[in-house]
Amino acid sequence: MSTFYVPAINLIGKGVINEVGSYVKELGYKKALLVTDTFIASSDILPKVTKPLDAEGIDYVVFSDVDPNPSCKNVLDGLKALQENNCDFIISLGGGSPQDAASCISVMATNGGKPQDYEGLHKSAKKGLPVVAINTTAGTSAEITINYVITDEERKVKMVMVDKNSLALISVNDPELMVSKPAALTAATGMDALTHAVEALVTPGAYGVTKKLSIGAIELIKEFLPRAVKDGHDIEAREGMVNAIFLGGMSFNNAGLGYVHSMAHQLGAVYHLPHGVCCAMLLPVIERENAKRVPAAFRDVAKALGLQVEGKSDEECAAYAISEIEKLSETVGIPKKLTELGIEEKDFDFEYLSKNAMIDACAPGNPFTPTLEETIAFYKELF
Ligand SMILES: [Fe+2]
Repeated sequence: MSTFYVPAINLIGKGVINEVGSYVKELGYKKALLVTDTFIASSDILPKVTKPLDAEGIDYVVFSDVDPNPSCKNVLDGLKALQENNCDFIISLGGGSPQDAASCISVMATNGGKPQDYEGLHKSAKKGLPVVAINTTAGTSAEITINYVITDEERKVKMVMVDKNSLALISVNDPELMVSKPAALTAATGMDALTHAVEALVTPGAYGVTKKLSIGAIELIKEFLPRAVKDGHDIEAREGMVNAIFLGGMSFNNAGLGYVHSMAHQLGAVYHLPHGVCCAMLLPVIERENAKRVPAAFRDVAKALGLQVEGKSDEECAAYAISEIEKLSETVGIPKKLTELGIEEKDFDFEYLSKNAMIDACAPGNPFTPTLEETIAFYKELF
């Protein structure tokens, strides 16, 4: 039996941001806590979102204290702002960080407790406060998924929460909100999206519907990511990426992820590196290992990346898929080694990161379970 989660209302396409106010009004919500980050709060994106709210008489309070890897403190501060201002719903505006912070605020607003209580699978009892999730980066798919990640500052770990009660009510993907994103961010988030689609395709959790969604996402990313990175104002490419993340997001939200994410989460928690860059660097490392165990799963990946798979062995398909992933990563300018990001091997705590990767919530989704020694060796490949 498979359960398929997706927000009830999904607005996709150029200009859909202008419809948000009327949807909120129709649903009867009055005052939003608008969760975002300082960059977006001071950019031209914020007025594009508040204008349609003003037009419909929807009130809002802007909370912009969300860090790039949102912390428990960010969540608790946001919850306090929500309660003090008597907000009856949440608008999350941004990439993965504001979306994840908003998911946790939403769950805590109706369930109480502390962020740590919700680490793991479906830990909350009640549906969260309604969230209108407005995405500004084509990559994380956090606006449509039931997963969110919060950093526990004290333990230096990223807590992964998988919770159906955190699912947004409305998702908004408007490519016009994404045109001003710098090339490096477009590349990183695009490679995160590719990682979602690939991990969700090779996981044992994949099934008919999710497989087709992943394949569609990979095809679109191959076609449109290099264009979106080269020219951020290429609206057709931005629209292609919006479609890709929506497909890929639906896929991994329901099929699950794998060890690329388990290991990437630790790099983010300890070194505060961009999530998409960590995923892009780890993707060929882990998929090379996965391909040794489940080579047949890579036929679809290779096909989606443009290979005529008829007459080819599973191993040939896997080798092609991994080399295409590496090529795409290079084309969009992703660094190859952690030293390029200022991390030195002598300072790297291999054992600590590896032990936490092994217990990360995404690890069970991987086609095989790496040992501690194997995990350490995978991190070593990044130097
Ligand atoms: Fe991701």
